[in-house]
Amino acid sequence: MKSAIFDTDIGIDDAMALLFAHYAEDISLRAITTKYGNASIEDTTRNALLVKEMFGLDAPVYRGASEPISIRLGEGYPSHVHGKNGLGDIQFDEPQLQAETWTAAQALVEISKEAGQKISIIAVGGLTNIAAAIALDPTFSSRVGELIVMGGAFGYNQHRGNVSPVAEANIASDPLAADIVFSSSIPTTIVGLDVTQEVTMDSLFIQSLADNAGQAGQFIKKTNKHYFDFYHTINGKHECPLHDSCAVAYLLNPDLFTTIHQPVRVVTEGIALGQTIHGNGLRTYETDAWDNGARCTICTQVNAPAVLALYQSTLALAGLN
Ligand code: RIB
Ligand code: CA
Repeated sequence: MKSAIFDTDIGIDDAMALLFAHYAEDISLRAITTKYGNASIEDTTRNALLVKEMFGLDAPVYRGASEPISIRLGEGYPSHVHGKNGLGDIQFDEPQLQAETWTAAQALVEISKEAGQKISIIAVGGLTNIAAAIALDPTFSSRVGELIVMGGAFGYNQHRGNVSPVAEANIASDPLAADIVFSSSIPTTIVGLDVTQEVTMDSLFIQSLADNAGQAGQFIKKTNKHYFDFYHTINGKHECPLHDSCAVAYLLNPDLFTTIHQPVRVVTEGIALGQTIHGNGLRTYETDAWDNGARCTICTQVNAPAVLALYQSTLALAGLN
């Protein structure tokens, strides 16, 4: 059983991933921590509370970062992708639940102390909260068993960026935070666009969830209309990348992915702001910004049908109650 914290800028695919982690029998969700990204921190925190309330999640919600620790690529929020409210502009009653008093960084630090085992962190919205936890408590990294990040892109399968030709949205939302985290001692796996853009769901996938996953399936169908409309405008197809759920799938079954292990740095200024670049270990260089000792596990290939099947079979549990 993995004791996990879900760190999110909860938008449409984040909500799917949160439900995936919630219904997965091998994951015990200890907390949901939020940050800006797909929407404002107010909206992402409200969205986390809404999913918690609608589906009876035990994990408390902790509000996190409202802005990057330094600079970000672009400004505002991608309402064209996730809707103004971050959940496809579906209508819902405001949740009655409230976020806890600790900040996300405080929760990451304190929960890792009391977990009784090294915690797993699923980070699907950028790494501002994780970097803040490292700054808050330098011993935090030693209590993290694994950090699985949906973010970045290294050019495998020809995927390099989605918010610029070379940058992925989560990393670009706080490049410096990502560079700090990837250079830290936290055992980190990067599930980037290289693989998440290979795992695409179509309308049949969504309808199957609507038919078999109870209220969760109905919620996913409703929120995804906006997401499918956006992707249809950019690729002419009625299919979307599953993105954040791939990070949960890696936690559940890493054998579904092919990986390499290399140091990773992030470009923190200029035209390539937010680009993730891995070292190659082929030789020594006169100067080498990657020679910092840290190494990340990077996903380069994925068994996409198996990830989609795992999602369907896990969410089917939602249809049983
Ligand atoms: O680039 C995809 C990522 O950006 C996903 O986490 C999606 O939710 C958005 O946050
Ligand atoms: Ca996200």
